[in-house]
Amino acid sequence: MGIISLRNRILFMTLGLIVLLGVIVVIFVKTELTKALLFDLQDKGISLTKHLADISVNDILTENRLRLQMQINDYKESTREIKYIFIHDKKGKVLVHTFRKGFPSDLNKINEVKPGEEYSIQSIIADKEAILDIAVPILKGETGVVHAGFSEEPLNLTVDKKVRFLVGIIIVILFIGNGAAILFTSAITKPIYNLTKTAEQVSIGNLEQKAMVTTGDEIGRLGITFNKMIDELKNDRGKIKEYTESLEEMIRKVSASREELDRTNKKLQIANKELIKSNEELDEFTYVVSHDLKEPLRGIGAFSGFLRQKYRDKLDEKGKHYIDIILDSSERMRRLIDDLLKLSRISYGETPFEYTNVSYILNEVKDNLSYALESKKCVLEIPDDLPTVYCDSTRIREVFHNLIINAIKYNDKDKPHIEIGYNGHNDHYTFHVKDNGIGIEEKYFDKIFHIFQRLERDDKEGTGAGLTIVKRIIYKHGGRVWVESKVGEGTTIFFTIPKNKRRI
Ligand SMILES: Nc1ncnc2c1ncn2[C@@H]1O[C@H](COP(=O)(O)OP(=O)(O)O)[C@@H](O)[C@H]1O
Ligand SMILES: [Mg+2]
Repeated sequence: MGIISLRNRILFMTLGLIVLLGVIVVIFVKTELTKALLFDLQDKGISLTKHLADISVNDILTENRLRLQMQINDYKESTREIKYIFIHDKKGKVLVHTFRKGFPSDLNKINEVKPGEEYSIQSIIADKEAILDIAVPILKGETGVVHAGFSEEPLNLTVDKKVRFLVGIIIVILFIGNGAAILFTSAITKPIYNLTKTAEQVSIGNLEQKAMVTTGDEIGRLGITFNKMIDELKNDRGKIKEYTESLEEMIRKVSASREELDRTNKKLQIANKELIKSNEELDEFTYVVSHDLKEPLRGIGAFSGFLRQKYRDKLDEKGKHYIDIILDSSERMRRLIDDLLKLSRISYGETPFEYTNVSYILNEVKDNLSYALESKKCVLEIPDDLPTVYCDSTRIREVFHNLIINAIKYNDKDKPHIEIGYNGHNDHYTFHVKDNGIGIEEKYFDKIFHIFQRLERDDKEGTGAGLTIVKRIIYKHGGRVWVESKVGEGTTIFFTIPKNKRRI
């Protein structure tokens, strides 16, 4: 189906329309003409038959059948349309007729005139011919009735002739219409055909083709618009090519840097694994070394103790002082080694995770620290509704212990005050231990979490490992620790514990 079918469609439509109109006109003309001619025939027939009735009265009354017969014979001869005449009396008995072969019985009692009627008309078929029978009563029917049959044949012939003429005209119109339609359709379809050819070329990507513009009408304008569209398409295609090229370039670069990133990531993962491994090895080493160091240290402590006890008298003041220093130092060294052991155990030894209520942990811590709290008249505030968390409860107890003991220790106020709190708005709980103590300068916020890092203090008990242990434990739970503090006002240490089960 192409442009040809459009042309054929227009042709078929035009011809079909002409044929349809022609048929309608022919039918209309034929019926109207038949009606009019029939009307004429009736008119003429009635007046002829009436005249015949008038002139027959005398002959009937005088019963002069011969004259009557002659009269009707003459009458029939003189009028071409009359096929037959017959007169019957009141009772229906045929008096005279013009049938050469005798009166046909099927015409008996046809087209009867009702009393009071001037005439009666009936279409019949006699001798295979359409006949209009007109009956007129003579002296109001008292004497008889005249029947005259008028042939409808001439009428039909006339109608047929006229219709044939009309059909001829229609055929001529059909030919003229056909020619006009061909001219008309090719005038419209040719530019459309050209346009379609161009569109087909464009659709397969050939933008070099242009539509032919031959007229200034709508089709011409369509051609101009189409050509503009082709130009824009060409333009766009150029731009798209540029974009595609730069996009491809970008994709190349991105994939190159992604590969680079992947390589770096892999290296990082390897390095990370190695780091974890060497950390574990370090922890193991620390554990073993600390453990082994304790033995000679115990020896130093014990023998220094013996020295002080047994040879006290033999030593002068200086000697005693040196031994005290040795004892103090070995004690301090024991504490340092203990802390190192604790720290290495966090990742070295595994302890079970379980659901534990933080209130339970804090009550234990509070009991353990009751002496320290009381001796400094320190108020420790613990909320009632603490959550249950999935944790290594021994370690979390250590965390709270270390933080609370710091809050007690590093406090110079008359009424030391410690407050525990939490919030659970996110996917983790954030706990805090807040005090109104001496505070920490911002520049030390990082340093205090490093092992054995202490700010200048008089306190001889501490080793500087407490916060490092806290940090390590919280890290093992998948959380983080940070500090907020103002010198002279107080310190708050925050740490998080994830809500869903997690352990590192
Ligand atoms: N609540 C606090 N208020 C003020 N300073 C603190 C507080 N907690 C810790 N610090 C400072 O951080 C240092 C490190 O703390 P920590 O690791 O617990 O070691 P230690 O308590 O043994 O000295 C402490 O020496 C102290 O100077
Ligand atoms: Mg401490």
